[in-house]
Amino acid sequence: MSKIIRLPGLIDSHVHLREPGATQKEDFTTGTKAAIAGGFTQVLDMPNNPVATITPQALQEKIDLAKGRVYADVGFHFGASPKSIQYFKEVADQVFGLKVYMNQTTGDLLMEDDQTLETVFSSWPHEKIIMVHAEGETLEKALALAKKFGNMLHVCHVSLKKEIEAIKIAKKDGLKITCEVTPHHLFLTEQDLKRLGSFGMMKPPLESKEDQEALWQGIVDGVIDTVGSDHAPHTKEEKNGEKPVYGVPGLETTLPLLLTAVNDGRLTMEKVIELTYTNPRKVFGLPEQKDTYVEADMAESWTIENEALQTKCGWSPFTGMKVTGRVEKVVLRGQVVFDGKNIFGPYGQIL
Ligand code: NCD
Ligand code: ZN
Repeated sequence: MSKIIRLPGLIDSHVHLREPGATQKEDFTTGTKAAIAGGFTQVLDMPNNPVATITPQALQEKIDLAKGRVYADVGFHFGASPKSIQYFKEVADQVFGLKVYMNQTTGDLLMEDDQTLETVFSSWPHEKIIMVHAEGETLEKALALAKKFGNMLHVCHVSLKKEIEAIKIAKKDGLKITCEVTPHHLFLTEQDLKRLGSFGMMKPPLESKEDQEALWQGIVDGVIDTVGSDHAPHTKEEKNGEKPVYGVPGLETTLPLLLTAVNDGRLTMEKVIELTYTNPRKVFGLPEQKDTYVEADMAESWTIENEALQTKCGWSPFTGMKVTGRVEKVVLRGQVVFDGKNIFGPYGQIL
């Protein structure tokens, strides 16, 4: 017996669609097909491309490349770098947030210099949000900067108990702070690394069971505001190569995993909608999509398989995992864009 439920078109505010510059991993077409198959009708693309999105020209190039080729609505984030500060005022209206990389990860946008970071936090228009990649100790630095300059701050992919604690205190102190958790940090731990090898390597890394429990508790307590997949595809060849590449895809597995957690009694459906729709929409000021919804079968048990994925990279760290809850239909502005098997379009827009 099926049990069909209806959800709004979901929002993933943290994806790496890889175009331009790394289309062997993903492109606007395949990445947004993956979004639609996963129940996401709005996604926000990150700026850490090989030629980073740190100039108005690079941003315009992305917009031009994406036009007419996207299956879901796509918006963009701008990257912080010493060279991009001069463009902040010019681009702020065209993007949803500024991404500041305070730890080393894929791309070359690392920012560690205190003086430059101060200039970034004081220059970015305060009505727009700053997103930080700030792991562990670095988070303290990000919080101090946001406090000093009064920014809205969204902490990406919290993965540690001590980060949850720091954010809880910052929220109590009245900072305008929100945070995101990824499905891989909710559903995998360092224990899974043995099995997954490089396919379980991402930034921040998988952590302990205790940290994972703190993330679940952070959802219950309302410390965590959004779920973002940090969809970061790399090819199998790259993952198997000499040099480690960090990141895992996630667009097609987020919702089935969250629905499984609802079936297991670990989450309520209201919470799922809050984390994947209401809160990201509020945090990033996203527009409403008329006549847009997702239908999922809560009773459908199935196994995640690499072969069935839309993402160009063709693998998932969750492959082989049994889940209960499957996307059966996605409607975007009144048009069926996914029928459980086929994807129709492209009907996506640039946000
Ligand atoms: C991301 C990537 O590959 O672009 N990798 C990752 O491990 N999360 C970069 C990032 O978001 O840090
Ligand atoms: Zn990311």
